[in-house]
Amino acid sequence: LRIDWDLMRAEKNGFDTFMLKEIHEQPRAYQDTMRGRINAGQEIVLPDIALTSAEVRQLKHIHLIACGTAYHAALIGKTVIERLTRIPVEVDLASEYRYRMPVIGENTLVIAVSQSGETADTLAAMRQAKYWGARVMAITNVIGSSVAREADDVLFTLAGPEIAVASTKAYSSQLIAFYLLGLYMAQSLKTLDDTAIAGLIAMLEKLPLQLVSMLRNMNPIRQVAERIAENDHLFFIGRGLDCSLAMEASLKLKEISYIHSEAYAAGELKHGSLALIEENTPVIALATQEELLEKTASNIKEVKARGAYVIALALEGCTGLEKVADQVIYVPRTHPLLTPALAVVPLQMLAYYAASFRGNDVDKPRNLAKSVTVE
Ligand code: G6P
Repeated sequence: LRIDWDLMRAEKNGFDTFMLKEIHEQPRAYQDTMRGRINAGQEIVLPDIALTSAEVRQLKHIHLIACGTAYHAALIGKTVIERLTRIPVEVDLASEYRYRMPVIGENTLVIAVSQSGETADTLAAMRQAKYWGARVMAITNVIGSSVAREADDVLFTLAGPEIAVASTKAYSSQLIAFYLLGLYMAQSLKTLDDTAIAGLIAMLEKLPLQLVSMLRNMNPIRQVAERIAENDHLFFIGRGLDCSLAMEASLKLKEISYIHSEAYAAGELKHGSLALIEENTPVIALATQEELLEKTASNIKEVKARGAYVIALALEGCTGLEKVADQVIYVPRTHPLLTPALAVVPLQMLAYYAASFRGNDVDKPRNLAKSVTVE
């Protein structure tokens, strides 16, 4: 018997690319990041961080610093932490943080978010925050990385090694880390009662299985990708968490397909860039936040009236958008704060398919590096 091994293919676990493999590893990454941190489905326990409940109660401000995809996870993290705890959160690009002289007091917690834990801008900002007297926490995927070693506390994402330059499972696991941290803080602050916390935990635990079933049917998004692959420009729009998610979707598409795209707050487009919408300009409208649906739908009508071709991303069972958008892609329901952890998947796949249709090297996009160790 002779077995011919294709080493690269074996490393990719049968997938054509590392990115596709890593997208499919997300259910596992969610489970691993949650493992040991949920106590009998009722309570979050974070044994790896030293920040006590009493210290959480002292916190006055939280600053999140990060670059690239991690910055987009932090934008979601801000909303999650503020909603769950009512502690004000600011988000900064690490490369800008030092130069704006942020106001840091002894009750400021700075959280550096970095997949690799080696990004020079993030490290420099984190060192500066420590110098100014902040307590520093890290959310990172790499044990023993510089960010992990230098932080006072580390909350690891357990996504496993990420090889593709465009981040997928590291980003979505950072969202899981923010949910765990936000709930942990809410428990300490009693901003949510036990039933509300248990309800959110139950929905968090369901995410991996929901992802598995989503990943089984990516055909609708493949068709969207085929259509947009010919375009040179497109827009992503969304409100609230969908706006932050739009930024990540746009980055993913630019990184690997080289199609130029802009992510806009849906309500802001009319204040300028609406002028760029022409006949058949694709607009991908993220409308997964039901309380904002009506407003987003009226923004969809604005772009439709200028000739845009609109693909909407909506929750299963939402019927309102079929009348206004040209195509609707559906995402399973969960708690609104958790929705980005599901909705990101079709957007990753959109970038993946668009890049593949254009014949690009998905895993190694031009001009980009996985980890940037210069400022
Ligand atoms: C590089 C990568 C991005 C990544 C960013 C931050 O620019 O190309 O994909 O998001 O660094 O990386 P980090 O490891 O700090 O999350």
